[in-house]
Amino acid sequence: MYTDNTSNIGNVLIVDDEPNALKILSAILSDKGFRIFDAMGMDSAITLMHKHDIDAIITDIKMTGGDGMVLFHYVKQHFSEIPVIFLTAYGNVDSAVSAITQGAFYYFIKPPDYMKLKGILARAVEQRQLRKEVRSLKTILAVKEKNHFIIGNNNKMRKILELIDSVKDSSSSVLIRGETGTGKELVARALHFTSRKKTTPFVDINCAAVPRDLLESELFGYEKGAFTGAFSQRTGKFEEASGGTLFLDEISELELSLQTKLLRVLQEREVERLGSNKRIKIDFRLICSANKDIRQEVREERFRDDLFYRINVIEIALPPLRERKDDLPLLVTEFMKEFCIRENKSISVSSDAMEILRDYYWPGNVRQLRNIIERAVVLASGQTLTIRDLPNEILSTYNHKPDNNSMRSLKEMEIQAVRNAIHECQGNKSKAARMLGISRKAFYKRLRELSVKSHV
Ligand SMILES: Nc1ncnc2c1ncn2[C@@H]1O[C@H](COP(=O)(O)OP(=O)(O)OP(=O)(O)O)[C@@H](O)[C@H]1O
Ligand SMILES: [Mg+2]
Repeated sequence: MYTDNTSNIGNVLIVDDEPNALKILSAILSDKGFRIFDAMGMDSAITLMHKHDIDAIITDIKMTGGDGMVLFHYVKQHFSEIPVIFLTAYGNVDSAVSAITQGAFYYFIKPPDYMKLKGILARAVEQRQLRKEVRSLKTILAVKEKNHFIIGNNNKMRKILELIDSVKDSSSSVLIRGETGTGKELVARALHFTSRKKTTPFVDINCAAVPRDLLESELFGYEKGAFTGAFSQRTGKFEEASGGTLFLDEISELELSLQTKLLRVLQEREVERLGSNKRIKIDFRLICSANKDIRQEVREERFRDDLFYRINVIEIALPPLRERKDDLPLLVTEFMKEFCIRENKSISVSSDAMEILRDYYWPGNVRQLRNIIERAVVLASGQTLTIRDLPNEILSTYNHKPDNNSMRSLKEMEIQAVRNAIHECQGNKSKAARMLGISRKAFYKRLRELSVKSHV
């Protein structure tokens, strides 16, 4: 991740024991857009490296305050991503050349050609920033692989991750339940793509999104001429999924007649395409999802109980985000990382913004959070994501919440009113008190209570 800040193209540390050499080089390079840190010797160079995010180092070789080669070895050991460029007097070319064979970036004989130095430095900075980005992407990937891309450290989520791990290779049917945006599809994919059969087909169909009359032909497939419009033969999803996984998303939306047909397929492990009576053997692992309370659907006879028992051999119930708020900072951090890399920004979340995110009810669960972070990262102009970057849907519920937070904002409004009055009356407090319609004494009391400094 690097800063999208056009005025600074990179942080450069210059090490030289001659103050004049430092001064000249600093002036030239800051003029070219680099942010310069300078050090007269080893110790201060090392301190600066630990304190700032240095992108490249330019160092002299022979210095009174330490040897540039020793510094180079220190950098190699502790900051291996930072490229080192040597500036050396004619007499030390041999050591500079040997440093290049050990991984130094470049060397110049003093006095350098500044245009060339600038070009080489820009390449060094770019190399460092790319290395940093690669490292950060690798970390994200490693975390995602470990957790099957599912972020969560909350107790319930950890149990779910364990459950996924223990059932991924079984052929039992799985039913994933949870409100919208809780990650049902993500879990279905994790079950398949972390299993031994990850290279077999993963076929999904959303029972709520496909029109009823099309759903049957989508699932079963058809022969040419099976119905008006069946101009050619088509393989159904059951067949496509054979050998792999079939994910029936939102199965509670399946109408009763299709439920009966699905049950038959599951019992017989065979299908017939529409318009054909040839039986085709199929074998897939079934994963279903439901965001409705499917047991209630069974009780109200909108969902067949025998089908329910067949699809619900293993049940995974995903908790809504509001019931696992302890995961919120982690989710926010991960999504921030992801979108900062994509947008090439470096942003952190302010504590106020995090507090508001934590307090929100999250009806759209993780999907909603992810979208909000994406939007905020895209819109944020500074290095901090603040309340102003959050959408109204979140802020309005926050302001109307009848708890400490709205008490606090009431207090803030009062402070603002007092400040405005003092400002408008140019510091004359008696006038300000009159303007707010309270006595001078009461005004001073409010000032103390609200701890507004009287010189505002
Ligand atoms: N635990 C999680 N970690 C990381 N990302 C998540 C997590 N849960 C959900 N998401 C992300 O949130 C979005 C919505 O997830 P998904 O589509 O799996 O939800 P869903 O339960 O299937 O929702 P719906 O019922 O609306 O279909 C996706 O972008 C997904 O990657
Ligand atoms: Mg879904």
